Amino acid sequence: MEVLLALLVVNLGGLALAEKRAVTTPTVCEEKLKTLTQKVDILLRQLQLQQMFIAERTRTDGGSGIKQARWGAIGTRPYHTSSHNMNWIAGGIFPHSQARDYFVTSGTSAVLNGVEFRMAGQGLMMYRPGQTFKSPRRRLPLPAVPPQVLAKKTVPEQVAEMKEWFKAWRDQNYKVRDYRKYFKPVLCYLEGKWLKSQGDDKLPFSQSFLSNEERARYQAYSGAIPLERHAFKPTSIVDFENGKPVFATWDYRILCHPVNQDIPTSTFRLVDDLSIRTPRRWTMDQLSRQMLANFQLNPLNRPWKENSEFADSDYEFLDQLMSQVPGPNNYDGKLYDDAFSKPTHPFTATTDKAAKLNTAFYHRWSKISQTGTGSLKARHRGFSDNTVFMAQTSQPSVAGMKVEECNFVGGKKVCKSYEQRWSYAIPLFITYITPLSSWNPYGLTIHTKLGYNDRTVFTGGRNGGFTTAKAYNGTSYNFYYTIPTEFFGSPQRGAAAPKGVLDPNGGLRKVSTGGLHSILPNIPGVGALRQTYPIFPIHGEGSTAWKEYEALADLVLKRKTHANMFLEPLQNI
Ligand SMILES: *[C@@H]1O[C@H](CO)[C@@H](O)[C@H](O)[C@H]1NC(C)=O
Repeated sequence: MEVLLALLVVNLGGLALAEKRAVTTPTVCEEKLKTLTQKVDILLRQLQLQQMFIAERTRTDGGSGIKQARWGAIGTRPYHTSSHNMNWIAGGIFPHSQARDYFVTSGTSAVLNGVEFRMAGQGLMMYRPGQTFKSPRRRLPLPAVPPQVLAKKTVPEQVAEMKEWFKAWRDQNYKVRDYRKYFKPVLCYLEGKWLKSQGDDKLPFSQSFLSNEERARYQAYSGAIPLERHAFKPTSIVDFENGKPVFATWDYRILCHPVNQDIPTSTFRLVDDLSIRTPRRWTMDQLSRQMLANFQLNPLNRPWKENSEFADSDYEFLDQLMSQVPGPNNYDGKLYDDAFSKPTHPFTATTDKAAKLNTAFYHRWSKISQTGTGSLKARHRGFSDNTVFMAQTSQPSVAGMKVEECNFVGGKKVCKSYEQRWSYAIPLFITYITPLSSWNPYGLTIHTKLGYNDRTVFTGGRNGGFTTAKAYNGTSYNFYYTIPTEFFGSPQRGAAAPKGVLDPNGGLRKVSTGGLHSILPNIPGVGALRQTYPIFPIHGEGSTAWKEYEALADLVLKRKTHANMFLEPLQNI
């Protein structure tokens, strides 16, 4: 009893104490909360500045471009391993010929305006941007088959006529047959932008985001191979709204623009790459016939002359091509960049009376009016990034950035604030879509929908064999076998090896793929023609060390041109 009473007393005393605390603690708590909130704000700001520090560092480490392809092979010299190229394919990106208009990315890392990210390894259809602000991306238009080919009654005659068109294209001789209407260059590019996090709390931590992030982290942590297909897209704090951080996630996509003019193949020049040539002891000519080759467009859209360089080029042919490519506002986009009261004009403008630049399309160069003088001054976007193209957008999903401009007007401070949204792009490759993409002389059924429709091609163990039981039942966008194999000389092996396909009457046809290639399979009497020209920039090229290395490579490889530079005369070596 006494013990119980004692406990009760103690308990009561405890209660009293608690009551006393309840009166005094809120102020302590509030104070703590206040300092904590302050500290969190400071930390968030510093986190944002830290991100900027990393991006700024990347921006001066190199330009926008392909940085590193994934592991491919190893060896005893550093150049035996993958660089911006995988061991067999430039940039790790290439068209996949089995399907109609399809290409593959193999997990390459890239940098766009200081943001480094990793593309997933995946197969992708080629799409072009939508037309209107809201319309989705669309399939590429395919060129028609020349009517002169279709006019031929038999398949062997059509094959012979089609070869003449390929000869004309090979020789770039549009006087014999005007191939320019039927061989259409398509410019495929990598586009990146910051997307605002959706939802009420505006946190990037949605379920799908988290699982992606977890897998990317796990892949990096464990080096796991099965997750190789995984993209890494960084996140960032882009803004503060009412003291709350606004997050954004990096997003990229590869789209293709059907170029609205012919690009003569003589405007491409092979780019030397010693890390490819040295281990294989290839000449430049050998390199030019490989899928590892990367090319450069002549800045003036002219055939390249031997040893010609342009030490002071500005608005190049590539700028002209990229200016046809819209940012996320799509082809109908119309925006102007008037920030800091300096309207942006096209680089080609000569006075500030000229129309303003439509910044909804990709550009590097522009001209800014000089206040009061009427004259224009050339501008290139980015600090030292020679390869980044930028487009303005008003898509609300893209994270914007605000800035305030203050001026003194009549002794009064007048401030104006701007918000702009931008996306970034680099060219990846130009592929010529040829009439092979739409030539179907056997009238084979082409299933255009995926799923069941597509499955009738191969269900029942059909594998493209040469019996009526094993042949594909028709074709589809994914199994695009439409070309009479005689066109490629009926090869047994390689990219043009035929498959058996049933025509609508149940007849067995031997057909090769009508899809896109890096280099077309040999066409007897015509040759093995390049269909795709990679033209991507390399991140490292923008670094100071790479510039010195390129100068050294030129010095070593062109000793005659640079003979006067050697400190010890060459003949004494
Ligand atoms: C081929 O597929 C079509 C449907 O696309 C079907 O009607 C036809 O019976 C199939 N032919 C054979 C031989 O399986």
